[in-house]
Amino acid sequence: MNLSLYITLLLLTAVTTKLITLKRVKSFHEFSKQELITELRLEAARISVKYGNSGNEVPETDSHNLMYYGPIQVGTPAQTFQVIYDTGSSDLWVSGVECRQASCGPNKYEPKKSSTSENMSQPFQITYGKGGVNGYVVRDSVIMSEVIVSNQEVGVGIEVYENPPQASGIQGLAFTALSSYGKPTFINAVDQGLLNPVFGIWTGSIEGSDGAEVSFGELDSSRYTGDLSCSPIVEASYYKIEIIGSGVTKCHKDRCYAIIDSGTSLVYGPKQNIEAINELIGAVQTEDGYLIPNCDPNNLPDVPFKFAGTKELIIPPSIYIISKEGEYCTTGFIGQEGAGFDWLIGDLIHRAYYIGYFVGEKKVCFADSVLEKNSFYLSKILF
Ligand SMILES: *[C@@H]1O[C@H](CO)[C@@H](O)[C@H](O)[C@H]1NC(C)=O
Repeated sequence: MNLSLYITLLLLTAVTTKLITLKRVKSFHEFSKQELITELRLEAARISVKYGNSGNEVPETDSHNLMYYGPIQVGTPAQTFQVIYDTGSSDLWVSGVECRQASCGPNKYEPKKSSTSENMSQPFQITYGKGGVNGYVVRDSVIMSEVIVSNQEVGVGIEVYENPPQASGIQGLAFTALSSYGKPTFINAVDQGLLNPVFGIWTGSIEGSDGAEVSFGELDSSRYTGDLSCSPIVEASYYKIEIIGSGVTKCHKDRCYAIIDSGTSLVYGPKQNIEAINELIGAVQTEDGYLIPNCDPNNLPDVPFKFAGTKELIIPPSIYIISKEGEYCTTGFIGQEGAGFDWLIGDLIHRAYYIGYFVGEKKVCFADSVLEKNSFYLSKILF
């Protein structure tokens, strides 16, 4: 084989795309109105802890019911785990065989059964809400789809509190600066030459509204149409970008910042802006959160967003109305700021747009998502 052909083949094998199908722990439509309200309160409280805003009350129980999970493998031979895919954190941990709580999830890691496992004898602890996980760190091979990342730091959870029962851990997809131990798996995969430094998240499934996908190494062009609209990452820890805003979301100070987080469901923003949004869409604050009385989702306005460098992006009512009961709709816009951000933008924006996370070029890009079946993801349930 001549050298250039050999190099081409090498590059072809190096530049691969790996798809992982994700599922939502629980869909919005599986909740009763009261359960949904409880979930949203828990999420708001968890966020204030995750983002270091300790002014808020921490709930007795924590919840990840609104997150997405998918498979990952650890060890040789591979042991399979379902983990939450979270762009708002940077550590990988899985429950260990010593874990006894119900929230350890269905799969437990057995280091003794992995020939590549190395005990780092280093304790770790991650806290979120009143919950969290503690245990020790190992190095082992981690397989994301078919990509084998060697010498990956993995937290082995001995005590796990308040993890959803479907998942046995979390895969953090943010930058190294945020991690508690070692490099995040995706960054390691890039450094080991296994993947290009980009991944894309699609959550445009409508039927059952559970389906989602993360594509590592390349965006999945079958899941979006048109051009990418991009905003530079201002600080490579979270996926933090500048938000210029538009109309009701306009920034009211020198600079406003937004964090894009797949591990969060809704959109949290400055009180002033959330009030303007509520006025626009006719929502009123009640004991049960923000509700729209006499709600007809087909006649509500879109809510515009604009990040530095992007076109105007919109979240339509079919996405920001997260439940409808009787005459009332519940909206997904919550007034809450945190340490280090003005807006925390979760799945609502992922629902509306395909999002490319350009880890190498340090930018977050949005493209029109190819939605399955029709554009109203809640249509089967609500309208
Ligand atoms: C690894 O080290 C930790 C801390 O030293 C210890 O608690 C744990 O039992 C060890 N695990 C194994 C499988 O040897």
